[in-house]
Amino acid sequence: MEPTAPLKAIERRKSKIAGWGVYALEPITKNSRIVHYAGEKISWKESDKREKRYLKQGCIWCFILNRKTVRDAAVGGNIARFINHRCRPNCYTQIVGDMIWIRAARNIRKGEELTYNYETEGGAGIACLCRPGCTTVI
Ligand SMILES: C[S@@+](CC[C@H](N)C(=O)[O-])C[C@H]1O[C@@H](n2cnc3c(N)ncnc32)[C@H](O)[C@@H]1O
Ligand SMILES: [Zn+2]
Repeated sequence: MEPTAPLKAIERRKSKIAGWGVYALEPITKNSRIVHYAGEKISWKESDKREKRYLKQGCIWCFILNRKTVRDAAVGGNIARFINHRCRPNCYTQIVGDMIWIRAARNIRKGEELTYNYETEGGAGIACLCRPGCTTVI
C-alpha cells in the first residue's frame, strides 16, 4: 500500500487563488517532502479520455508520471489534489519511481498556501489567477 498521509502538517482550506487550496500548518524547511500526489495509475490513452471529461468541468486531475503512465487524482487521490498552480510557486514536484512528491522549493511559513507550477503549457486553457495581472494560461 502507498502511504497517503502527508509528512508535514497541512490542511485543505478555501483558497484565494481558486476553489480549495492546501495550507501549511507548520513551518516547512526548503526541500522537505510534504506529500505525494496520489491517484490511480492509468495509461496516456485513458488519461486523454478522462482529462477531456474533467476539463469540461474546468478541472485538471491527471499528472504525468512518465512516458507511459499518468496519475489520476480524481480516483484514489489525497489532499495533494487540492494544491493550486502558481507561476512563482513555493513547491516543486519530483518523480521518484512511481511516486510524485511535492517538495518545498524554499522555506515555507506557517499559514502559506502551497503551490507548484503545473507546467501544462496552456493545455488546459484555464486563465491563471495566481496573482493580479497574471497572463499565463494553464
Ligand atoms: C488540482 S485542482 C486544485 C484544487 C482546486 N482549487 C479545487 O478546488 O478543486 C486544479 C484546478 O484548480 C484550479 N486552479 C488551480 N490553480 C489555479 C490557478 N493558478 N488559476 C486558476 N485556477 C487554478 C483549476 O480549476 C484547476 O483545474
Ligand atoms: Zn500565474
